[in-house]
Amino acid sequence: MASANNPLKRFSTFWLGCILFVAFGLAGLVLGVGFNKSGVNRFDEVDEKRRVKIKRKADKAHAGVGKTVRRSFDKVGARFLETAPASVEKPEFVLPGSTTQKAKASGGLGVTVPVGFPEVPADAPVDPQVMEKGKVVFIMCSACHGPEGEGMYHINKTGPPLVGSEWVTGSVANLIAIQFRGLNGTMEVNGKEYTPVAPMAPLPLDNDSIAAVLTYIRNSFGNKASPVSAEQVEAMRGELGKPMLSPADLIAPTASTGPTPN
Ligand code: HEC
Repeated sequence: MASANNPLKRFSTFWLGCILFVAFGLAGLVLGVGFNKSGVNRFDEVDEKRRVKIKRKADKAHAGVGKTVRRSFDKVGARFLETAPASVEKPEFVLPGSTTQKAKASGGLGVTVPVGFPEVPADAPVDPQVMEKGKVVFIMCSACHGPEGEGMYHINKTGPPLVGSEWVTGSVANLIAIQFRGLNGTMEVNGKEYTPVAPMAPLPLDNDSIAAVLTYIRNSFGNKASPVSAEQVEAMRGELGKPMLSPADLIAPTASTGPTPN
């Protein structure tokens, strides 16, 4: 009769435990050595040659372990690629099989103006109440973009200026997409190049707050452009959850500085 006291069962459980312990230990060692050699412990800072080497080692370890362990490795790997926040990936290092890579392959990464995007005329009146609300929401942005939209880049290499930014007075679709997806990578603003130390994280507020803050930055600090409506923000909700933007994914500012900057 099989019971907890069955010596045979206790024996095999013990050995199964040992095998798993050794297998995971070995895999950990191989990966650990790969990641930590010469003080490098961030995979995306490792150069291409080392990355290939680490990958080869990991593949070898993968091939060397038993079927069950291998299957669980695969499961964990697949789960990671499915759930890894795409925003942790840098544009220059995209994990094979990840959300970003799939989106890139299907061409679905760049900002596009959705069909039926509500138009707001360039000379539409700006509601003072919306500006008041926008000013309050802007307190959050000012941490990185400065209280007067002057940017904080010159102080701590965070947000570039919003004053005189062709992005701010340009495509509304860009601005809404930046709120939903964040932005990362060297970019030019008003003729100067910026390489911030950290990306702009997505700030997916409600429609009214996003519309208000974008209307505010488009009509403050000397900027002048059409207000942004909550309907326009709603029309871009599909951007939420897509991988973080790089400046190359944005609609080029020159293409949208016409009379209707949608
Ligand atoms: C945590 C810091 C941070 C916060 C908060 C933040 N941003 Fe940004 N923002 C950045 C950085 C950094 C960039 C440039 C990203 C890059 O190129 O890597 C950026 C870029 C931008 C750009 C395009 C570049 C430009 O200067 O015109 C706009 C527009 C923008 N942010 C608007 C906003 C708005 C509106 C808010 C508030 C709702 C906001 N940001 C909040 C850091 C921030």
